[in-house]
Amino acid sequence: MSRANLDIPPNSLEAYWMPMTPNRRFKSAPEFFVEAKGMHYRTPDGRSVLDAIAGLWCVNAGHCHPKIIEAIRHQAGKLDYASSFSLGHPLAFHYTNRVMEIAPKGFDHIFLAGSGSEAVDTALKIALAYHRSRGEGHRQRLIGRQRSYHGMGFGGLSVSGIGWQRAQFGVMLPGVSHLPHTHDLTRNAFSKGEPEHGVDFADALEGILTAMDPSTVAAVIVEPVAGAGGVLPPPKGYLKRLREITSKHGILLIFDEVVTGFGRLGAPFAAQALGVTPDLITCAKGMSNGAVPMGGVLVHHQVHDAMSQGPETTVELAHGYTYSGHPLACAAALATLDVYQEEGIFEKAARIAGKWEAAIHDIRGAGGVIRDIRNLGLLGAVEIEPAPNAPGQRARAVANHCLENGVFVRALGDTLILSPPLIINEDQIGQIADSIKKGIRAL
Ligand SMILES: Cc1ncc(COP(=O)(O)O)c(C=O)c1O
Repeated sequence: MSRANLDIPPNSLEAYWMPMTPNRRFKSAPEFFVEAKGMHYRTPDGRSVLDAIAGLWCVNAGHCHPKIIEAIRHQAGKLDYASSFSLGHPLAFHYTNRVMEIAPKGFDHIFLAGSGSEAVDTALKIALAYHRSRGEGHRQRLIGRQRSYHGMGFGGLSVSGIGWQRAQFGVMLPGVSHLPHTHDLTRNAFSKGEPEHGVDFADALEGILTAMDPSTVAAVIVEPVAGAGGVLPPPKGYLKRLREITSKHGILLIFDEVVTGFGRLGAPFAAQALGVTPDLITCAKGMSNGAVPMGGVLVHHQVHDAMSQGPETTVELAHGYTYSGHPLACAAALATLDVYQEEGIFEKAARIAGKWEAAIHDIRGAGGVIRDIRNLGLLGAVEIEPAPNAPGQRARAVANHCLENGVFVRALGDTLILSPPLIINEDQIGQIADSIKKGIRAL
């Protein structure tokens, strides 16, 4: 089959069991993208579609950046695969050194994985192993948060807090509790940036710890800004309070930065943008600009030092993946970092965030069905009152309307999720906001 023909969907779409998708509905009215460049996708019939969610929160430097593509091409013809189990290839070391240059102060190692889910499971395992290496192996409990998303591994799903995503899979890991989520429409609806009220949601941690005894808890994991749970920026002071409580009780704090890492909030990591330093940071997505799967866990030196004791022959962490440090992923990620730095993409994101905030909040004028609008950095959400007895239907109708009019936004339940490539310009911001307004007026 010629390559050109592969752009034409086959007659039967049956064999591919698509992830996180109502397969039968999709296959009865499929939508395809076949090319992408910069801010846009192209459909098989040649329509250009503005990407308002960076693929799936990942294409921060825009699609098919020539420098990233060239690095992948070059690497694929040079060293396609080498294991990182007791073996090395220089690129993985070059890349990880470079990540450390932008990591928050105090972080000096990164463990590489193949996805965000693997990164989260790795971070949870590091937390357990860290305590064990210090003679505190009784610290086995983990604390997540309602409405959080930490990927699809059993560890990540256990600490995640989106019920319908867990329902099919039984009881998960034992010993997991959840903090309350931070979405508070009564006090914070239509907040710009970090909401004013809600530091008390962090105080709930003390209550959970009282119930289970803090000395049994290994780690608390949160997304600095909850993403797939509906883009929920942290209330002012919330993350700092979590840090204070976890430090007080010797509990590790993990920031899941799979969405916020690599520039989404205008700094390399949310930890820097929001001024709170955790012990472990997970990342993926923007790490390799989505071009080759990759994930990682940044590790604070205190954690790494504690785990690097004992004889040199010791495997410090009995954990790793066939694709940890994959040469193509490292090539893509190194080129991605170059692009971020040479083109000042994080700084651009920081500069345009004010225009983004103004445009997203201006959508409020489109109609009374809008229940809340939220933003932080280049993240945004427009939450819509559900139609009676039809949850999610209105948001989906607006997303469909946007797609028909050349803008790709994502409907998650009753919320439209926005997370554009960080190279977005003012006109494109206006196009996204206009398209959502029209979609809402058309309801
Ligand atoms: C915060 C967060 N953690 C983890 C993941 C899982 O990443 P992946 O889908 O690459 O496994 C995601 C994916 O969206 C995410 O948003």
